[in-house]
Amino acid sequence: EELEKLISSDQFRASMYAFNLVQKHAKNPQGAPDPKLAIKVQKVGIVGAGLMASQFALLFLRRLSVPVIITDVSQERVDKGLAYVRAELDKLVEKGRLSADDRNRFSANLSGTLDLADFATCDWVIEAVFEEMKIKQDVFTRVEEVVREDCVLATNTSSLSVDEIAKVLKHPERMVGFHFFNPVAVMPLLEVVKAPKSNDVSIATAMKVAKDLKKTAVITSDSTGFVVNRLLGYLLGEAMRAVDEGIPFEEVADAIAPLGLPMNPFDLLELVGLQVGAHVLDSMYGFSSERFYKTESLHKLAKYGKIRTKDSKGNPTGYDPEAIKIVAGGTRSRTKEQVFEQLVEGLAKEIKLMLDEGVVASAEDIDLCMIMGAGWPFHLGGITPYLDRVGASQKVFGSTFHTPMIKGV
Ligand code: 3HC
Repeated sequence: EELEKLISSDQFRASMYAFNLVQKHAKNPQGAPDPKLAIKVQKVGIVGAGLMASQFALLFLRRLSVPVIITDVSQERVDKGLAYVRAELDKLVEKGRLSADDRNRFSANLSGTLDLADFATCDWVIEAVFEEMKIKQDVFTRVEEVVREDCVLATNTSSLSVDEIAKVLKHPERMVGFHFFNPVAVMPLLEVVKAPKSNDVSIATAMKVAKDLKKTAVITSDSTGFVVNRLLGYLLGEAMRAVDEGIPFEEVADAIAPLGLPMNPFDLLELVGLQVGAHVLDSMYGFSSERFYKTESLHKLAKYGKIRTKDSKGNPTGYDPEAIKIVAGGTRSRTKEQVFEQLVEGLAKEIKLMLDEGVVASAEDIDLCMIMGAGWPFHLGGITPYLDRVGASQKVFGSTFHTPMIKGV
């Protein structure tokens, strides 16, 4: 009897919707070309040796078991990247998750260089350098000079136009977006960005690489913020709008809590890095100054370096007094409930626009992206059924994303 109650509950229905997305929908990526077109990746090149790039190196080594070469602007940076990867491999051995043999094999497969000519034999080159158009274009111009014609070039840009980056290439059809989420080893999503000129071979290769990395890939169009950063960018922008307006950090986090995301917005900003977060928000504001919030205070917080206070283990304990001073000064005009209401309406509006613009093939793709890339909770189903249930869809566009609506909590 108890089981019957459980399996007829709305929570169960919402979980089943999410389960089917992750188990079935994810296995048939919409818009994917014939997998047979993929080229075989036997050597990976990574441009950049910072934290993000080093996390890529670790993942490629472990999952693809092929040589991985990294480069950066100085030997010191390259050495730091190599040391990070080797230390992480050691940690896995200590935890009993990796055999010493595998560690040695992966470590031997890893190398660093200052000479891009060493990338000549790579079949796949990915960059994780600073989010500036000119820097990325310069990287790819130099990479294209040395690699073979069939080498696929991937950018991990979080919100720049892949098409614009590819403009400097002799063969722009070989470029794809390959967007990871923090923490790279943990978040299952990869957004594979199909720029207008990306050809089927490049997309098929990207899908195969994603599969080999054991990630779930969703194909998106080359639209600012793709899926997850567009929605998280909106949410984080609204969180900053609320603190700028004089609502305390705690209360803003509380206002957003019903969405059930695993991290409060300020922890999330610290996870991705305040600089990176400010950059994503700038890009989104550049995309639509009407819908996205321009946040000067996040730049100030990024310069200061933190929002949260933490205990000795790094667990958040409160909010930094200096950070509170940085955002203080606004005049509060909304209740916590109004912040939530406006947030969900804004999210419904953004998702409807994304579907109308064809950023992804379906509402299910958006739900899958938010579950796999931002930890959207299973028991709420997906973000689109949730927005239907709280009435945001009806209010914004007079209908629902799903007919009939998907029940849930
Ligand atoms: N870095 C590396 N690994 C981490 C980590 C971190 N900051 N935080 C947790 N982990 C690892 C843990 O070591 C653990 O690994 P193990 O299973 O191998 O031991 C695993 O993650 C699970 O850790 P926990 O049990 O502590 O898990 P939690 O339940 O606390 O979840 C979380 C941690 C997975 C980070 C979860 O809070 C989450 O999903 N947060 C949302 C993150 C998110 O939204 N990311 C997207 C940001 S946007 C982005 O990256 C795009 C870019 O362009 C800006």
